[in-house]
Amino acid sequence: MANAQQARRVVITDKNARAFVEKILVANGVPSENALIVADCLVQADLRGVDSHGINRIPSYMARIRNGVLSASASPLVKQVTPAVVQIDGQNSFGFLGAKIGMEKCIEMASTFGIGMASVKGSNHFGMSAWIVQQAVDAGMMSLVFTNSSPALPVWGGKEKLIGVSPIACGAPAGDMPFILDMAPSVAARGKIYKAKRRGEKIPLDWALDAQGRPTDDPAAALEGVMLPMGGPKGSALAIMMDVFSGVFSGAAFAGHVTNPYDPSKPADVGHFLVAIKPDLFMSMKEFEDRMQYLYKRVTESEKAQGVEQIFFPGEIEQRVRRERLQSGIPYAEAEIEALNDEALKVGVSPLPT
Ligand SMILES: NC(=O)c1ccc[n+]([C@@H]2O[C@H](COP(=O)([O-])OP(=O)(O)OC[C@H]3O[C@@H](n4cnc5c(N)ncnc54)[C@H](O)[C@@H]3O)[C@@H](O)[C@H]2O)c1
Repeated sequence: MANAQQARRVVITDKNARAFVEKILVANGVPSENALIVADCLVQADLRGVDSHGINRIPSYMARIRNGVLSASASPLVKQVTPAVVQIDGQNSFGFLGAKIGMEKCIEMASTFGIGMASVKGSNHFGMSAWIVQQAVDAGMMSLVFTNSSPALPVWGGKEKLIGVSPIACGAPAGDMPFILDMAPSVAARGKIYKAKRRGEKIPLDWALDAQGRPTDDPAAALEGVMLPMGGPKGSALAIMMDVFSGVFSGAAFAGHVTNPYDPSKPADVGHFLVAIKPDLFMSMKEFEDRMQYLYKRVTESEKAQGVEQIFFPGEIEQRVRRERLQSGIPYAEAEIEALNDEALKVGVSPLPT
């Protein structure tokens, strides 16, 4: 296991990673404008160090296209419900597309009405939520980004894998260092367990239970069992909240009926819930930004607990990783690049050098 932990990394620039993934997507029937969006969202995750939700998801997404349970060529349909609300039918297209169009509409509506809301049904996995929050931050907007997902967690007191570890994300612009919270309601995102499995690594004992209900450090055994919620009943309640807003409310699948993105047997019908809010509704933009910066300073300059070197704002570690990786490239495990190259070869795309 120690050797696997130190497995060789292959460094790829974000530009090359994006171009490579775009080609695989196009070769699998995704229109090039949509391929560009999907590739960019996945690379954004790798740039932020959220490697569990980056380009390594391509083989599982392509398996779903090949099996006809994710539509490569579909684009989402947008219906205006009120001046500040749109409803989107993803038409079983990539979740990245419905979420991107949804947040674009939210931003547009919030610019006029102060707030814009989008509900998305018939969608698929959209990877890391933070790219959608960043889309709002780039437009100077606050946001809420919710999604539901496939069963991974028992509800508090339960035993059966029922609710998704669906991430809760939100953000606010604040000059150089926006507030970006993006967290699964489990101790750790399930994608981190898939990543450990791919990389031959162990996981901490408090992340999941095996099929017999015992704590495990083996990612394969953990995937057979259940994830553990963060904060006991509170994590379980937050997971249910994501299903209320993204599943019940939107008309998408809910209550344990969303399909796992690694399961190529049936459509997923994921739901999302997106909101953009204009930050200067109650004061000038300058005053809002000054207040955010004051909050940032108060948080990061607060007295440190013993053994703590630095206090970070939510999203700050990922932003630092992003700056570094934009400069020096993204390190991928060799086995991950090999899996991507296998996928490339299936459709005649030149492999990445290892
Ligand atoms: N699409 C899906 O269905 C799905 C499902 C689950 C998770 N995910 C994604 O998985 C990713 C990982 O989720 P996670 O819960 O494991 O994230 P995480 O535990 O790594 O981070 C959660 C939040 O805590 C903040 N944080 C972490 N360490 C910090 C520190 N030392 N100081 C200050 N803030 C800190 C991060 O900035 C982040 O906002 C997310 O991007 C999420 O969107 C997606």
